[in-house]
Amino acid sequence: MSKNRILVVDDEKLISWSLAASLKKDGYEVDTAASGAEAVQKFESFKPDLVMLDICLPDTSGLELLKRFKAANEDLYVIMITAYANADSAVQALQDGAEDYFGKPFNLEAVKHVVERAFEKRRLKKEVDYFRNELRRKSDHEKMVGNSPKMIEVFKMIKICADADAKTVLITGESGTGKELVAKAIHYHSARADAPFIEVNCASIPENLLENELFGHEKGAYTDASRRQKGVFELAEGGSVFLDEIGDMPYQMQAKILKATETKRFRRLGGQEDVEANVRIITATHQDLPRMVKEGKFRGDLFFRLNVMNICLPKLRERKEDIESLVQYFIETLNEEYGRSITHAAPDTLEYLTRYDWPGNVRELRNCIERLMMLEQGKVLTPEFLNPEIKQSRVAAQDPESSGVISTDFAGEHIVLPSTGISLEELEKMLIQLALKKSGGNQSKAAKFLKTSRDTLRYRMKKFGLSDSGKEGENENLETPVAGSGVPHASADGLRWA
Ligand SMILES: Nc1ncnc2c1ncn2[C@@H]1O[C@H](COP(=O)(O)OP(=O)(O)OP(=O)(O)O)[C@@H](O)[C@H]1O
Ligand SMILES: [Mg+2]
Repeated sequence: MSKNRILVVDDEKLISWSLAASLKKDGYEVDTAASGAEAVQKFESFKPDLVMLDICLPDTSGLELLKRFKAANEDLYVIMITAYANADSAVQALQDGAEDYFGKPFNLEAVKHVVERAFEKRRLKKEVDYFRNELRRKSDHEKMVGNSPKMIEVFKMIKICADADAKTVLITGESGTGKELVAKAIHYHSARADAPFIEVNCASIPENLLENELFGHEKGAYTDASRRQKGVFELAEGGSVFLDEIGDMPYQMQAKILKATETKRFRRLGGQEDVEANVRIITATHQDLPRMVKEGKFRGDLFFRLNVMNICLPKLRERKEDIESLVQYFIETLNEEYGRSITHAAPDTLEYLTRYDWPGNVRELRNCIERLMMLEQGKVLTPEFLNPEIKQSRVAAQDPESSGVISTDFAGEHIVLPSTGISLEELEKMLIQLALKKSGGNQSKAAKFLKTSRDTLRYRMKKFGLSDSGKEGENENLETPVAGSGVPHASADGLRWA
């Protein structure tokens, strides 16, 4: 491991010599400077991790140097040395970013501790930064929940895009399906993981600022451009740019994005030369881009370019088997966030959640669980606080009051009764009509199918005014719905309510 480097800046030779000797003995690599000018030069060449800086120097003030060094390297640790315990300049130094200070004359043993403490702090900060990064990365991508075949396909595509270092990826899917999560997963699973991932929401940045945001500008590009500024394509060098809501990208800008994806070059606003762009461009939208292309709202050439690698996220209602594990996952993460200890969702709650169609997809499910956890007093999420629209989605025989709709499973079929009520006689009539239709008008077969006798069937047909063909009068068509709500009618594939 390389040694930590310390630069001692003091014009009193004896002081810098004794400090250097003592610090070297403690295992540091040390250099010295006797003036501001020498300090600046050594700062460049020696690249210290820590500078011990006298406040009074012959050619400049230590406070000036402190600002200059910190501006060049904000991770640098600076310890000020002050000849007289000048509280004002010491306070100023601390405000300007110095780590600590000590007054002359000093005790070498005390200085040694100050230096040790500074390096220990630096080490801890690095460690915390590292773990925070790791945590952020893990929480961003490792927790994409889902075992459904559709999600497994998505995970495979993420891996392919990440491993192949695909330069452009298009992620599509309804709002709340996890497009942003996928974009981060691609980045953090790839060799680019240590470089930046920068997100730009094309819908939220005004058109006139978007180009500046993406490509930056040269000094003087416009009135306020007092210096060159990098855009995200430069800031994300080596990493990924995530263009969210690409469907909202203004048409003019689309040409520039196309050029950047094709040539890997772009031009800053007001620039004369192209700049190389080593970035992966991940795009996402909930909009129907092919339709937008047809309508002339999105460039076809850009769409085809982006669509080379397309990850299409399934709607939550198309993978309801994932709901239970998502619910459990959200309970666990929200437990941590809110300091709760909910164990699980009750089977009843899960049934409601599984029957609902989730137009807002996973985001809506997460919000729903968060709401339940806020309101629930016990350890289990009961259906009590579910929103009415979620409750109405469940058609449960056991809980008719909750929805007004009743259902039951019968002979392997799920039968739903309308909330408006139903006429038993009409139902019986329809069943007879259906049975006759199924048997091609053969009354014996129809009676057998209905598990009744031929005589009973004939009696009931007569009662309902059905002809031998099963029709009411000669002209009535079986497939014509019977008017009025709550009244069943027969259709080719079964019973329906008007
Ligand atoms: N598979 C998943 N596992 C765990 N959490 C998920 C999953 N999919 C989505 N989420 C969560 O759902 C929420 C919405 O996800 P995200 O923001 O990625 O959706 P989106 O498709 O980008 O939506 P929008 O189109 O509205 O921007 C986030 O809180 C995200 O963490
Ligand atoms: Mg999003």
